[in-house]
Amino acid sequence: MQLSVIGCGYLGAVHAAAMASLGHQVVGIDVDEAKIAMLSAGQPPFHEPGFEEILKAGLASGNLTFSTDYTAVESADVHFVGVGTPQRRDGGGADLTYVDAAIDGLVPHAKAGSLIAGKSTVPVGTAARLADIVAPHGIRLAWNPEFLREGFAVKDTVDPDRLVYGVSRETGDEDVATLDAVYSSILERETPRLVTDYATAELVKVAANSFLATKISFINAMAEIAEVTGADVTQLADAIGHDVRIGRKFLNAGAGFGGGCLPKDIRAFVARAEELGKGESVGFLKEVDEINLRRRQHVVDIVVNSFDGQPFGHRVAVLGLAFKPDSDDIRDSPALDVAVRLKGLGAEVVSYDPQAMETARRVHPQLDYAESLDAALAGAEAVVIVTEWKQFRALDPIETAEKVARPVVFDGRNILDPAAWRDAGWTYTGMGR
Ligand code: UDX
Repeated sequence: MQLSVIGCGYLGAVHAAAMASLGHQVVGIDVDEAKIAMLSAGQPPFHEPGFEEILKAGLASGNLTFSTDYTAVESADVHFVGVGTPQRRDGGGADLTYVDAAIDGLVPHAKAGSLIAGKSTVPVGTAARLADIVAPHGIRLAWNPEFLREGFAVKDTVDPDRLVYGVSRETGDEDVATLDAVYSSILERETPRLVTDYATAELVKVAANSFLATKISFINAMAEIAEVTGADVTQLADAIGHDVRIGRKFLNAGAGFGGGCLPKDIRAFVARAEELGKGESVGFLKEVDEINLRRRQHVVDIVVNSFDGQPFGHRVAVLGLAFKPDSDDIRDSPALDVAVRLKGLGAEVVSYDPQAMETARRVHPQLDYAESLDAALAGAEAVVIVTEWKQFRALDPIETAEKVARPVVFDGRNILDPAAWRDAGWTYTGMGR
């Protein structure tokens, strides 16, 4: 099929290349000329495992092209909208500027009978509003939320847990048939497919992210209690996680969640529910947000306390900047926040991240970025792990002790073996253990 994908960020660029890998003819559109130039040259603008391979393969096969010009969408049967919906500057709600601009860009060029399939995370009610805008032009609209995780974006796109189609009351059957044709090779594997109305599809996405955020904040709340009682939150998570109704996934206590989705999605959900007069229904998400933000401050506090409240001039190695491993994304990253706050308190912070140093440097040029993990560790009076990269998990406590000035470690992601580190002479502090 002929497809267009509007917006070439983490979601759109991966979706475009993944659809090309399934055999479709795809054009990716973005207003950012530099990004389009990079993608057209086969250079990923962000770190995402497996993306470079499918990008290059798509370009080489001729199935995948990129453009800044909306006229390139004219022959497409389906237009995916994968632009960002960041948090508004004036509150918690979602900023729909880019979604509205994508629709404005598409309407003059999308052929009659084509389908716009929204993938961006939007406040409930958005799809119905947009459908009214495009219908007079003979263009159909569906909402087809995306659940991809960074670090697994390619896999999650070509082999998703489920497909959700929010379709129109009027043209629903045709919308379903069109999306089924796009995803035919995924559906052959009996991937669950749910057909809903617009509102349900929009809510599925924010409900899923709210649930995940709640699960993380729940275990972090338990970590707070564990910290004052001497209990171990990791063992607690293991024990409750054996109950299949609870499950062990997303019960890792630590510095909390960040990224381009969970924090802004729960805030946008609260804002939208308040607009709908149902703020109390999701009021608990404010608490989820607060617990989450407290965890980064907790990491800062315990580091500062280890210097008797006087971190000024003390060298601290902050290991991690990305909001999660296998990503160079620093949006709302607890790790970067910890580095910035410690630096703000006068500590001599040296940061290291295997992938996110360039993205971090653009936003925080004032931080010191080490050339290597060893350079970050050299002479450190405290080591703070805030992103669970494999390299940090694999650190040897005996060898690492020889590199630092003071063997004090704060395991902000609970990835080290406390006994092994203590045996090697370290003062080990985990999160809630
Ligand atoms: C999330 C959703 O998982 C995905 O389905 C949605 O499409 C987009 O938002 P992502 O932002 O890539 O994906 O990150 P995710 O893997 O969910 O992790 C989010 C944050 O939670 C990270 O900062 C991670 O470190 C943190 N986290 C995760 C925890 O602190 N504890 C856990 O147990 C799990």
